[in-house]
Amino acid sequence: MNGYRDLRIGLLGCGSVGAQVARLILEHGDELAARIGARLTLAGIAVRSVDAPRDVELPRELFTTDAERLVQGSDIVIELMGGIEPARTLITQALQGGADVVTANKALIAAHGPELSEAAEQVGAQLSYEAAVAAAIPILRPLRESLAGDHITRVLGIVNGSTNYILDRMDRFGDSAEDASRVASELGFLEADPTLDVEGYDAAQKATILASIAFHTEVPVDAVHREGITQITAEQIDAAKSAGYVIKLLAIAERLQAADGTDGVSARVYPALIRRDHPLAAVHEGKNAVFVEAEAAGELMFYGAGAGGAETASAVLGDLVSAARRHVVGG
Ligand code: HSE
Repeated sequence: MNGYRDLRIGLLGCGSVGAQVARLILEHGDELAARIGARLTLAGIAVRSVDAPRDVELPRELFTTDAERLVQGSDIVIELMGGIEPARTLITQALQGGADVVTANKALIAAHGPELSEAAEQVGAQLSYEAAVAAAIPILRPLRESLAGDHITRVLGIVNGSTNYILDRMDRFGDSAEDASRVASELGFLEADPTLDVEGYDAAQKATILASIAFHTEVPVDAVHREGITQITAEQIDAAKSAGYVIKLLAIAERLQAADGTDGVSARVYPALIRRDHPLAAVHEGKNAVFVEAEAAGELMFYGAGAGGAETASAVLGDLVSAARRHVVGG
């Protein structure tokens, strides 16, 4: 074939995102190898049950239930199991062993991001999690790298696709919250525990991650003021509509300056009234949008799919290619 070096990729989890990641690695192998200068070899996919149904047909021999062993033999680990444990332990083991890690696990990064980043730094490994916020939309890398020289003052947006879907259907088509939730679930937008979406926990986790990166400081998820959409009624939506507004679940993080000159960060998630002529009012269905306000750059808006298997997999692959390139440059 060619002289490309092999990079062993260990995939942990094969739900809707994991299956799409595996598909993209297998289908786009040659193209990615040429782009990276190394071949991404899917060494294995760790799952709880080898025989569970998958969204994508994948070679059976790739599946294993031994996640620890897979981690030990991988150059890059992709964690898509979700939840705190065993993801936290496996990622820590991977980083301590010198592997780079890519994850979409917003709950884990919101709760343990600083500890995991430190574990990565200690061994010079890379921990990346672009897919954890707003799925397909590139937002963390722009905040961390493209805007690294600017002074960000505010980040606000719609970062939960399912609640946006529900509110949008209620607003535009008069759907009931129950009907809209059912469809959001069928589309795969809702978390396994929908409370995480409708009570604003998911958006608060994303707000924590956005705020921490934008403002170069630790913003604990407990410090995010959180209100969900469960109290929003059809009558409130209609009243907002008549007054020229739409109700959207917003996540807002902004830099605050106290009278004594010290800096702080305020982060909050709540259903807000948006004027119908504001660009965020035109963010429909499961889409997300993030506004960034920076001193020199002014206003920037990032828009796109905030949920979905292939869409989230796109961001995971971006992080994977970036990690793989480091091996080539370093190796
Ligand atoms: N439940 C999440 C959402 C999935 O609705 O946005 C993507 O993080």
